Amino acid sequence: MLTQIIAHRGSKGTRPENTLPAFEAALADGADGIETDVHLSKDGHLIIIHDEKVDRTTDGKGRVLDLTLAQLKRLDAGAKFDSVYAGTRIPTLDEVVQLLVKANFTGIFNLELKTNKIHYDGIEALVADYFNHHEVPFKLVYSSFYPKSIERLHALQPTAEFDSLFESKFKTARRLHAEHVIIGYHPDIRWVRRHWLLLPKVQLRPWTVNSERDMRFCYRHQFAGLITDYPGLAHRLRLKM
Ligand code: G3P
Ligand code: CA
Repeated sequence: MLTQIIAHRGSKGTRPENTLPAFEAALADGADGIETDVHLSKDGHLIIIHDEKVDRTTDGKGRVLDLTLAQLKRLDAGAKFDSVYAGTRIPTLDEVVQLLVKANFTGIFNLELKTNKIHYDGIEALVADYFNHHEVPFKLVYSSFYPKSIERLHALQPTAEFDSLFESKFKTARRLHAEHVIIGYHPDIRWVRRHWLLLPKVQLRPWTVNSERDMRFCYRHQFAGLITDYPGLAHRLRLKM
């Protein structure tokens, strides 16, 4: 089985994470999939960013939840990574989807609902509503560290694929797998290395697989996928295996 290469927050290793340049680079790097994270703004927009706060990746301060879309759009999400990317904005979910639609991307779009620290009210319904009204060429794969989000979204959009990021909560992960809510696990690669011999035979796409050693490990064991900040490197290595 060919291990799919999924670009973590876009090509996070070479571009400002979770920005349009990062997703464009992932496509150019030949990624089979793209992983990204979604939060909710104060005025109810689906916002692509990793942290609950804007402080680490932008020139702003505060929680996404306390800022409107207009306020978020004024922030610079590129300069902290490299001044070359100054002026890069935080994208909305729709902007990322439109980029992938334009590129006719037919790979995996792995959307992580970042609901484990802040339980954004109604985010699952907004996401389901968005994809129920937009035809997309890619395969939609949802993940979350928060099992309730997976269960809620699965009830609204049962035809999408769901995978757990809460595999270490063995009971919950196994129950949702037995109920066919989740198909597989997206675990931390360090956890996989400790547990994989004991793992039930489920589809695995570990993160964050950045070293050549970890990439080879995933290829050798024919995991379904790997999630990496360096899809270009993973691609070159896969060609040699
Ligand atoms: O989906 C895998 C990975 O993205 C989960 O960790 O913190 O990078 O969102 P994090
Ligand atoms: Ca993520």
